[in-house]
Amino acid sequence: MSHTFTLDGKTIPFAEGQTILQAADAAGVFIPHLCYHPDFKPHGSCKLCTVKVNGRQTASCTMRALPGMVVESETEEINGERRALTQMLFVEGNHFCPSCEKSGNCQLQATAYHLGMMSPHFDHFFPSRAVDASHPDVLLDFNRCILCSLCVRASRDVDGKNVFALSGRGIKTHLIVNAKSGRLADTDFTLADKAAQVCPVGVILPKRLGFAVPIGERKYDKAPISETTEGR
Ligand code: SF4
Ligand code: FES
Repeated sequence: MSHTFTLDGKTIPFAEGQTILQAADAAGVFIPHLCYHPDFKPHGSCKLCTVKVNGRQTASCTMRALPGMVVESETEEINGERRALTQMLFVEGNHFCPSCEKSGNCQLQATAYHLGMMSPHFDHFFPSRAVDASHPDVLLDFNRCILCSLCVRASRDVDGKNVFALSGRGIKTHLIVNAKSGRLADTDFTLADKAAQVCPVGVILPKRLGFAVPIGERKYDKAPISETTEGR
């Protein structure tokens, strides 16, 4: 831990090989992120973690920390761009939070609150992907997927099952279930899988367990995302 860089003027120590986001995380400084999870290799898809390093924008989840770097994160410019990225994610899917079981426990929603997102701003895409309710214990609503690939990485690298994959190109990219039928019921997925626990939004939902926590007591009701374990 002999090296340091500065993040918004604050000195951040880092170990050899750590990324900017990992070092900030260890120092208790919040950089918004959605596709990064400390248990997995960075994916670099959401771009919410973008910072300016020595004047140039880069994703802090993939950028290795180097001694003496000057990193800017909490600026009007960068947060404005993060807000626009969040708005894009909202309009690309069907994020009707008032009827979503993950509301109050959702990283996308909490990030939008953190960034002061007041409206979707862009036109909605209104995708209409069929819900997969075939599994006895789990419901999949693909219309809320933000393609972070955390479930793909968790199922492949931790569960050793390869239940999920991303398919298609461009705006047609979507999450699929790796079964001939395409149905979750035809995989060996269980609620005990790591992949069942990592979705930052409301795609992978346990059945018979919705709306169990009263409003006011949900995770991000109690503390903004910048003060939670996801936020660090
Ligand atoms: S289902 Fe959830 S964890 Fe999987 S890619 Fe979509 S948003 Fe990410
Ligand atoms: S957290 Fe870095 S690109 Fe998503």
